[in-house]
Amino acid sequence: MLKKSVKTILNGLSVAVFVIDADKIIRFGNNAAIARFDANLKDQPLSSFVSADECLDAASQVLENKTDTVSLELTLQDVVPTTYRLIITRLDAERTGTDARAIISLEDISHIREAEQMRIDFVANVSHELRSPLTSLSGFIETLQGPAKNDPVAQERFLALMAGDAQRMSRLIGDLLSLAKLQAKERIPPSNTVDLPSILRRVTASLEPLSKRENTDLSLTISPDLPLVTGDADELTQVFQNLIENGVKYSPQNTVVEVIAEPDPSHINQVRISVKDHGDGLDPLHIPRLTERFYRVDKGRSRTMGGTGLGLAIVKHILIRHRAYLHIDSQVGIGSNFAVFLPIATRKRSADKH
Ligand SMILES: Nc1ncnc2c1ncn2[C@@H]1O[C@H](COP(=O)(O)OP(=O)(O)OP(=O)(O)O)[C@@H](O)[C@H]1O
Ligand SMILES: [Mg+2]
Repeated sequence: MLKKSVKTILNGLSVAVFVIDADKIIRFGNNAAIARFDANLKDQPLSSFVSADECLDAASQVLENKTDTVSLELTLQDVVPTTYRLIITRLDAERTGTDARAIISLEDISHIREAEQMRIDFVANVSHELRSPLTSLSGFIETLQGPAKNDPVAQERFLALMAGDAQRMSRLIGDLLSLAKLQAKERIPPSNTVDLPSILRRVTASLEPLSKRENTDLSLTISPDLPLVTGDADELTQVFQNLIENGVKYSPQNTVVEVIAEPDPSHINQVRISVKDHGDGLDPLHIPRLTERFYRVDKGRSRTMGGTGLGLAIVKHILIRHRAYLHIDSQVGIGSNFAVFLPIATRKRSADKH
């Protein structure tokens, strides 16, 4: 029915293409369609693969010559729902009645729709996160201009709260800028050899005051045979700062947060830095979503601790750039282990430095 050269062209396309006859029986499916539907399509009814009435009605319109072409978008409920842009066109205007043929192309546009949804959610989240401290600031300003105009004690208290709100907004903007910068350079891995032990010592020392305030203990163990790693010292500082701070923030009093840096026992070419806490732990359903921007298990709690919910998203992007990864193990009521696996420096690179 189709010339060999036409079939070759259709088989070279990445979009799935069907040719159907007047009874909506598939006469040809290109390679992409066969791969997508994982079946021999020829001589099968179109409805066995695309059963949506919208598509079948549109195909009838084209085959009955009521229109030349129809374009529509539909989501097929597969294991993972997939959104397609469908274009149905008459194959040959001369062929009518039982001889009519139509060509249907299905382009997977799920990633475009997902990206759009992520952008919408992101803008909504940022606006919401900025609006709360702004509303609170406006309220304090009104109070300072009105009822508290001549009350120095209230003024001092409100000004301290206002400073907290301003800090919160500035932290949020700082984190958003960090994320944007990281995404821009994600494809360029860092090339310096870093002194991981001194980064970990500095971070744990800087978090001592928080740990004291929260009444938790911080312990750091560094294996004497820890190999050198390639990385960006500032970015790795940010990674451990967030993971250790989370360990402290989400642990009850009188527990210990342990940081252990050692060669990975399972892979000789990487090191493992575990941040273990004996805190609340996490339900497994939250774990895959923790590195999403603004994802917080308990929003209220994270906010009172001054969090923006961007910490683990920043960690994820830094680790992607380092060709490293994060493994989260957690049990409710027992605690969590956030383990970072970093590739060790290649010999050439470490030799360069010495
Ligand atoms: N060690 C942990 N134990 C229990 N829950 C955790 C732990 N680490 C992270 N979480 C959960 O994951 C969420 C996201 O963490 P993330 O570091 O991205 O944000 P945050 O700590 O709330 O804010 P920020 O990092 O901006 O201060 C937290 O709000 C918390 O619900
Ligand atoms: Mg955090």
